[in-house]
Amino acid sequence: AKDPVRVLVTGAAGQIGYALVPMIARGVMLGPDQPVILHMLDIPPAAESLNGVKMELIDAAFPLLKGVVATTDVVEACTGVNIAVMVGGFPRKEGMERKDVMSKNVSIYKSQASALEQYAATNCKVLVVANPANTNALILKEYAPSIPEKNITCLTRLDHNRALGQISERLNVQVSDVKNVIIWGNHSSTQYPDVSHATVKTESGEKPVPELVSDEAWLRGEFITTVQQRGAAIIKARKLSSALSAASSACDHIRDWVLGTPEGTFVSMGVYSDGSYNVPAGLIYSFPVTCRDGQWTIVQGLSVDEFSRKKLDATAAELTEEKALAYSCLT
Ligand code: NAI
Repeated sequence: AKDPVRVLVTGAAGQIGYALVPMIARGVMLGPDQPVILHMLDIPPAAESLNGVKMELIDAAFPLLKGVVATTDVVEACTGVNIAVMVGGFPRKEGMERKDVMSKNVSIYKSQASALEQYAATNCKVLVVANPANTNALILKEYAPSIPEKNITCLTRLDHNRALGQISERLNVQVSDVKNVIIWGNHSSTQYPDVSHATVKTESGEKPVPELVSDEAWLRGEFITTVQQRGAAIIKARKLSSALSAASSACDHIRDWVLGTPEGTFVSMGVYSDGSYNVPAGLIYSFPVTCRDGQWTIVQGLSVDEFSRKKLDATAAELTEEKALAYSCLT
């Protein structure tokens, strides 16, 4: 039998946490033959509720779940973890300045970076979900210099999956037959959902999405804004933000990273830019990647037309500005 993998979920008493921990305990993230030990962190006001989640995990009697650590102590939470899913953060409240929210999150991610660096297992893989996800991941990277930068990522897989979903609905095809959409840039409304290289499996082979949809106005207009604004649409409908889809996408992100992407398929991940596609180096930016042997690689050589170029640059400009704002909050 395999040794258990220790998976940290921060903000585990929150909405996404409640949807995510049972998925991890059922093997959705790491596979049906991989035992796990869950480490759950939250802040003291949520301690009682966190303990309730622990009680439910015990009550569910998950065969793969070999242990649960529920704590408000960041050192205890981070000790020995192989995977860290960072969902905890400070939400923007009405009337708050952007800089104040940034400042709160910068200080959270700075201190959690240090704890991970000192106490996590070597080669721990980190996924930041909490917003501003790209910039929180960047701060975490800066304050955990001994964690390889390739191990620090942020979630744009939800946006990627939303794009797959929109194409599947539009063409009335199975979502599992659609692949290779790309989310470029920030997990925000400036992200660029790009279908230039996406395909659909049909009875007569793989067909390009732009050919099948054959409505450029929709692809360059409503499709993009629907994906960009899907988070807001969910809040409007549910009066709460996306949780089950965020949790499921976080599992997809880690599963593909650890176990690999299928041959011929790429997925979107927020990763540390090396300057590929003329995206400024030193930002956490969402790119198309393939994964193998536990490592992601940015897909190279995809064509970027003028329309796309502008969108890649606009979301990069927003991230550069966010980075500057985050740095101005560092003391
Ligand atoms: P929530 O408010 O229900 O849960 C957040 C939890 O984090 C709370 O239990 C809170 O006590 C905890 N927390 C706050 N500060 C903490 C700290 N310093 N250490 C540990 N835990 C801490 O929020 P929800 O709906 O679960 O969303 C979590 C985050 O994920 C938000 O920032 C949200 O914007 C983001 N998000 C990101 C998505 C993405 O695709 N990247 C998609 C959906 C949400």
